[in-house]
Amino acid sequence: MNIGIVGTGPLGSILAEKLIKAGHRVKVTNTRAMPELEKIAAGLGATAATIQDVVKGVDAILFSMPFNAYKSLPQDLLKEVPQDVIIMDTSNYTPLRDGEISELEHISESVYISEMLGRPLVKVFNDVLEYSLKNKGKASGTADRIAISIAGDNQEHKKVVSQLVDQIGFDTVDSGSLAESWRQQLGTPAFCTELNKGELKQALLKANREKAPAIRDFILNKLRYMDGHPSYEEIIAVNRSVTSEMLQQI
Ligand SMILES: NC(=O)c1ccc[n+]([C@@H]2O[C@H](COP(=O)([O-])OP(=O)(O)OC[C@H]3O[C@@H](n4cnc5c(N)ncnc54)[C@H](OP(=O)(O)O)[C@@H]3O)[C@@H](O)[C@H]2O)c1
Repeated sequence: MNIGIVGTGPLGSILAEKLIKAGHRVKVTNTRAMPELEKIAAGLGATAATIQDVVKGVDAILFSMPFNAYKSLPQDLLKEVPQDVIIMDTSNYTPLRDGEISELEHISESVYISEMLGRPLVKVFNDVLEYSLKNKGKASGTADRIAISIAGDNQEHKKVVSQLVDQIGFDTVDSGSLAESWRQQLGTPAFCTELNKGELKQALLKANREKAPAIRDFILNKLRYMDGHPSYEEIIAVNRSVTSEMLQQI
């Protein structure tokens, strides 16, 4: 497939590398001037493209950028992009970083982004750490292969995205429509807890929409005030224990 990636942060970069390794042709963009972007793209094995060109002539576009940066994208960026092109969104919202957005009390984060982009999309890769993508992929059928949640309204698009996820070493669990994608947002048991397929199915069902923002904020504070930079293992452990404990509280 030809894939355009918007954002070369930790997540966008590892996804570019993994998708290229799986045999796809990837072009990337970010906010840098072309000479610097070309160096970053070459380091990933990808092609550099402007924001206008990254969405042209591709089968799929993956947005992997800060939640509050979507509003800085050119208006009508996807206007000429054919409807069969798959749009993926990896973003997560945190009020401290992105500012308070009152609409998110009523709609899921990816519905908000979908409305901003004017296109349906598939929410994927938001509930897995970049470290896990880099180091924890396993062959299909391997015991305890990590599963990733995937939400969206287009079943065909979700099927193709599941195949991409499988190719880079992970299972998927369908978490439902984009409206239901709050089940895989921060503060839910599915969020960056490294579960296998069976466990993730259960975790998605246990999500509590009302409690999720408080759990999210508690976890982010706990991680922020830990001594030193929390390790990958500590992040997973905190996500698991805090979510489980806070969900049991009335
Ligand atoms: N890191 C993880 O483990 C992880 C896991 C799951 C989900 N996520 C979510 O995935 C998203 C990406 O995360 P990240 O950690 O890779 O890094 P990030 O810091 O959220 O994204 C940085 C990238 O976005 C680019 N960007 C910002 N505004 C842009 C614009 N208007 N046009 C084009 N590119 C733009 C930046 O460009 P410049 O390089 O030019 O600044 C940079 O390459 C976030 O929403 C994050 O919450 C991250």
